[in-house]
Amino acid sequence: MRALWCAASFAAWCAFAAAQDAPQGDFQRAKTSFESICAVCHGAKGEGGVGLPLKGIAERLTLEQTIEKIKNPNPAMPKLYPEVLSEDDVAGLAAYIRSFR
Ligand code: HEC
Repeated sequence: MRALWCAASFAAWCAFAAAQDAPQGDFQRAKTSFESICAVCHGAKGEGGVGLPLKGIAERLTLEQTIEKIKNPNPAMPKLYPEVLSEDDVAGLAAYIRSFR
């Protein structure tokens, strides 16, 4: 599942990554990554879909726990770190999804 998913999305990701030169952990960059990678399962505003709703996640998990969930997700979610997402990407995304209310 993971290999298939990566094969299907890697080209798009690489084009995306190459186009980015914003500061690391930048909010806009995290938003763009979220929309291109995570929204397909979690919804553009974290409303949920195949993946769990991420709305209100800041009330359920600490920033550290959120980072951990992205780095080492349960099997239903693809493990994107460290192949696709860097340490900074994960931190930026964790901060970004915590803004969903
Ligand atoms: C292929 C679909 C899919 C993609 C793509 C995906 N997720 Fe998930 N995600 C899931 C599923 C399914 C779960 C629930 C796993 C479980 O706990 O059973 C989940 C769980 C999570 C959780 C834990 C939520 C909680 O309340 O415990 C976080 C945080 C998360 N995803 C963030 C992300 C981020 C950030 C991205 C993009 C980098 C992403 N996900 C991409 C499917 C996906």
